[in-house]
Amino acid sequence: MQAKFDAQKIAFAPIMFQAAISLRNLGILKNIQNNQRTGTTIENIAKDLNLSVYGIKVLVEAGLSLEVLYIKESKIFISKTGWFLINDKLTKVNMDFTQDVNYKGFFKLEESIKNGKPEGLKEFGQWDTIYEGLSQLPPKAKESWFNFDHYYSDIAFPEVLPLIFEDNPLKGMDVGGNTGKFSIKAAEFNENVNITILDLPGQLELAAKNIKENGFENRINGYPINLLDHSIPFPKGQDFIWMSQFLDCFSQEDIVKLIERAKEALSENGVLYILETYWDNQKFEASTYSLHATSLYFTCMANGCSQMYHRDDMLKLIDKAGMKVKKEYENIGISHTLLKCIRK
Ligand SMILES: C[S@@+](CC[C@H](N)C(=O)[O-])C[C@H]1O[C@@H](n2cnc3c(N)ncnc32)[C@H](O)[C@@H]1O
Repeated sequence: MQAKFDAQKIAFAPIMFQAAISLRNLGILKNIQNNQRTGTTIENIAKDLNLSVYGIKVLVEAGLSLEVLYIKESKIFISKTGWFLINDKLTKVNMDFTQDVNYKGFFKLEESIKNGKPEGLKEFGQWDTIYEGLSQLPPKAKESWFNFDHYYSDIAFPEVLPLIFEDNPLKGMDVGGNTGKFSIKAAEFNENVNITILDLPGQLELAAKNIKENGFENRINGYPINLLDHSIPFPKGQDFIWMSQFLDCFSQEDIVKLIERAKEALSENGVLYILETYWDNQKFEASTYSLHATSLYFTCMANGCSQMYHRDDMLKLIDKAGMKVKKEYENIGISHTLLKCIRK
């Protein structure tokens, strides 16, 4: 019976997800939380929020099955799960990413698998990958994409900076540096370092604005490039190369080529840092679940060919590209692993 119930949860998952989003966005969960001491009723919620009793009734009933609400002595209360839906930043970032970036496009998952292309991305534009269109996404999708990306990496940056600067590098490169967040943090952390950010022109425009606002134009510069063109070498002489939440945006074949190009660009004792979330390297089931779902975002929306990798996948690719792991740091940020790599 439990298996049959679980199967029904899957059968109705998109409907129930929309119910949860509506309970959150219409302020119903918040209203119930505000009345948690005494509990509340459908009529009171409807009156407070100026919505119909019918509308509140169907959503609250769905909320009972979702176990975000419960009823005690005829009064409605919010559950711990419901509390997370409105108060936990991780949950908010993931839900907004699902709703604003992925939901509509995911009707095309099957086609994406068959064609090896992110067919869901057509929801937003005619690009080959989401990265080409990132700066032109509709405002809500763009905001939720950046919030999702930054939420995970922002937390990791303060932990990795002391590790990177143990070796006193003077020149570094941030490959896929996006809006410049890491490079700015690194320039704040170390007053001598110079960093080059490699990314697509649209992202570098945003980065340039942020770099200027933080007064680092003299030490951080942008290098516009389509990294999928493997005939273009990386700027050479780098003491360190930083790839954060970056290689997961590429197929295994492209990852080998990107690491090879990084290897060529390193100075004699230069090191390559790879920061990723590996689905097999997680302490919590919730993380593995989220990473498996995120993989499908890459399939359907981002590029049709990449994923959140297994740690062993990455180790094989590093080896194939002629590098080896010198040191591995676990439990960085929320669920990241940092690999410090050197030439073989
Ligand atoms: C998931 S984001 C990671 C951003 C940042 N490193 C972080 O840790 O938050 C991946 C970055 O790689 C860049 N990227 C993806 N494909 C690219 C390509 N073909 N050429 C240049 N940059 C690319 C994207 O524009 C984006 O800024």
